[in-house]
Amino acid sequence: MREEVILDINDLRTSFLTDDFEVKAVDGVSLKLPKGKTIGIVGESGSGKSITALSILQLLDKPGKIVGGEINFKGEDLTKASNKEIRDIRGNEISMIFQEPMTSLNPVYTIGQQIRETLKVHEGLGKQNGTKRGIELLQLVGIPAPEERIKQYPHELSGGMRQRVMIAMALACNPDLLIADEPTTALDVTIQAQILELMNRLQREFGMSVIMITHDMGVVAETCDYVAVMYGGKVVEFQDVKSLFKNPKHPYTVGLLKSIPRHDADVDELEPIRGNVPSAKDMPKGCRFAPRCPFATDLCMEELPSLDKQDDDSEVRCWIYTDRWDGDPEVNVNERERTS
Ligand SMILES: Nc1ncnc2c1ncn2[C@@H]1O[C@H](COP(=O)(O)OP(=O)(O)OP(=O)(O)O)[C@@H](O)[C@H]1O
Ligand code: SF4
Ligand SMILES: [Mg+2]
Repeated sequence: MREEVILDINDLRTSFLTDDFEVKAVDGVSLKLPKGKTIGIVGESGSGKSITALSILQLLDKPGKIVGGEINFKGEDLTKASNKEIRDIRGNEISMIFQEPMTSLNPVYTIGQQIRETLKVHEGLGKQNGTKRGIELLQLVGIPAPEERIKQYPHELSGGMRQRVMIAMALACNPDLLIADEPTTALDVTIQAQILELMNRLQREFGMSVIMITHDMGVVAETCDYVAVMYGGKVVEFQDVKSLFKNPKHPYTVGLLKSIPRHDADVDELEPIRGNVPSAKDMPKGCRFAPRCPFATDLCMEELPSLDKQDDDSEVRCWIYTDRWDGDPEVNVNERERTS
């Protein structure tokens, strides 16, 4: 990756600490996001996607805590920033949108009051200019009759419109980095496609860098330049999006791609990944995917592989791609490549 890097996460560890136990929700995640690009973070529920994002903005619920690593944003380590510095960065340089806009919009204030408040805090705009800019922003995100909508309360808008309002608010301060955590999961398919298209367009126009968190490989294909696949609090594969779809390397990534409907495949060809995600309290000793992996060997059960760079610049955490592989030497996890 030779582009300018805006966000460089290095060995991030975030845990939920109780008196007698440490839940390692994010366990040594490293990621680099080039400026103006979109990186997707994918993985099943509980893999640590949201906690990675919330760690960046230090929005972790107690007893969640960053216990190690660095989050370098434009050269500054956010894990060392003061509360005031983080507050200034939040919404100003980094914005976040969530899956369910109702949890972020306040039901007792109108859309206009909420957008104006954001513009007042971050841009110092007064009521009149705030309303004017608010209407422009609602227009930008494709809300019809914005002069009317701005006077309404969140419950008067549909889910898709509320998500557009959230995007408008996230863009209000022209952030350098937008973190979107499952921004379309709660929406129906047509609206989902419209919102993704909107986000793609805005990203191009504003030149933002984006972290797109999703469990949906379809969303990844539509929006991302690079993809980090997470499993059990760790990144197990990192590739550019085209290579990932063409040549997925980690058996978990291969499983994820087989479990999604494709235009060219019958529904009965879908193969869900067997078994369940391990609980963060009860992680396997070796490779975290071993209990579900069709290729697991004794080595896999005993030792955790590291995330290693391959000749083609991809990164993968799996013994198959090392010279210590002790299983079938012929094994080729990439069925897709073999059959295509
Ligand atoms: N408040 C909490 N207290 C204790 N553990 C937590 C808490 N929130 C998250 N965790 C732990 O962190 C792990 C990762 O959670 P995270 O929310 O990042 O998952 P995710 O990948 O975003 O999943 P989903 O797709 O369901 O949103 C969970 O499996 C859980 O063990
Ligand atoms: S390290 Fe072993 S168990 Fe883990 S994904 Fe690779 S082959 Fe499967
Ligand atoms: Mg989540």
